[in-house]
Amino acid sequence: MRTTLHLTHDHPTPLPEWVEGGDVRMPPALVRRLVSEYTEHGDRLLDPFAGFGTTLTVSESLDRKAWGIEYDADRAAYACDRLRHPDRLHHGTATDIPDDVPTLDCVLTSPPFMHEFAARDPLQNYDGESDYETYLDDLAAVFGSLGSRFHRAGTLLVEAPRGTDVRALVEGFQERYPDAELVAQRQRDRTIRSLFELQDALETELTDRQWEALETAYSAGYFSWPRETSGQEVAELLGVSQPTFNKHLRIAERSAFRMLLDREYPAADE
Ligand SMILES: C[S@@+](CC[C@H](N)C(=O)[O-])C[C@H]1O[C@@H](n2cnc3c(N)ncnc32)[C@H](O)[C@@H]1O
Repeated sequence: MRTTLHLTHDHPTPLPEWVEGGDVRMPPALVRRLVSEYTEHGDRLLDPFAGFGTTLTVSESLDRKAWGIEYDADRAAYACDRLRHPDRLHHGTATDIPDDVPTLDCVLTSPPFMHEFAARDPLQNYDGESDYETYLDDLAAVFGSLGSRFHRAGTLLVEAPRGTDVRALVEGFQERYPDAELVAQRQRDRTIRSLFELQDALETELTDRQWEALETAYSAGYFSWPRETSGQEVAELLGVSQPTFNKHLRIAERSAFRMLLDREYPAADE
């Protein structure tokens, strides 16, 4: 299993001039990666500590519906200017989630930070006083209050090999989750591979460096139009020369396209 992820830490937009202190924004590449991986088109997201609106703008660009709450008036106004749906960003506090925030599919945020021995309250933008215990309780209360805003029902799709005792599988699941019900059961011949198997086959075929080149190029926006990162920049991220990067990438692309277009990959049991 891969445990590292290479992403660029660039911000395409500079911080506004009136900002004092460091850059607290999330890297857009990280948001893009998480939103793409964990949500679908049209899903509803909330960033309860929206800051300059990175989560919301990236989510909107990926056709997700994004709501946000931001305590600081200047940041809220700045973020609103950049949003397709500025009415979904509230200037307020995450400790009091506005009623018009709908049922959610995802919450993605980077909360205001506090050092263990600090005394200023991050949840009031460091204006009031607080202590670390209270800060943790406040954050727990915010996330606790969001629990009830998630879709209560979900559908679990399980693919089991032929010969599996489906009844035992279902009963085992229902023992743990008594409200769960079996909606449908189908038997089909496998002519199409699951996405995961295809990913596995590709990952197995490529060397670590080839996979890393492909993953890093994709996450860094190398395949975007126009290109967000040049080949030279991706090569630098990987710590290799550009010709080496080109070679790794070309081999990875060839394998990926061969599997996709020729449907030529190892058999499922291999
Ligand atoms: C780490 S920053 C988030 C940055 C954001 N992810 C971005 O990319 O711009 C945390 C934000 O939480 C805001 N904040 C602090 N207390 C808050 C509260 N009670 N409710 C909502 N936002 C709050 C701060 O003003 C700050 O902008």
